[in-house]
Amino acid sequence: MTQDELKKAAAIAALDYIVDDTIVGVGTGSTVNHFIDGLATIRSRIRGAVSSSEASSARLAAHGIPVFDLNGIEEIPVYVDGADEIDARFCMIKGGGGALTREKIVAAVSHRFVCICDATKLVGTLGRFPLPVEVVPMAGSHVSRALTRLGGQPRVRENFVTDNGNLIIDVSGLVITDPLALEAQINQIVGVVTNGLFAARGADVLLLADSGGVERRVRDANMTATRT
Ligand code: 5RP
Repeated sequence: MTQDELKKAAAIAALDYIVDDTIVGVGTGSTVNHFIDGLATIRSRIRGAVSSSEASSARLAAHGIPVFDLNGIEEIPVYVDGADEIDARFCMIKGGGGALTREKIVAAVSHRFVCICDATKLVGTLGRFPLPVEVVPMAGSHVSRALTRLGGQPRVRENFVTDNGNLIIDVSGLVITDPLALEAQINQIVGVVTNGLFAARGADVLLLADSGGVERRVRDANMTATRT
């Protein structure tokens, strides 16, 4: 199977987690695009979606799925999104598509985060994928210097503006042994909107696709895993 076929398998498996007659939280990226296409096939079962990016909103709308403003929504039972890396404790690096801030906001409002990935995304230690950091443009140099002091090599993503009008700085060279602490530390740098570490609010369910099928892992005290 190709990587894209694996992404699709994980995305379709996420349809099992949709709660009927509710608003679905929708992430961003190529894996989520498959999820949106799958969601369209059960469109009549949901009220609509809250989206984490203009790109996902456009795809949802093209399928005739109503897209709601988060400010008018009190409850999102399930949020479905991909990841650039995920570890065994379900901490993630996200933001490869630059949508990390809105993704983090929608995830924060959601009861359950279902992460959909092909098996290449599961890592022992986070950090091989450069960590995206969303930054207010006038603070770019200041934040880059601070990220260098933390041991990273920051690089402003070229020709890219986030949906919020900001820069993305991709930070390579970080070995992230304590994702929770580093997430908080980077967010303390003045000018940072947020960073792509999702540790304080990690995933609750991981749907991990490889050529043998989609493995369903649930985060609980025992980190139990079942393969379907
Ligand atoms: C976008 C993200 C995506 O979830 C992440 O980049 C994974 O993308 P893909 O599904 O295309 O591999 O965080 O900001």
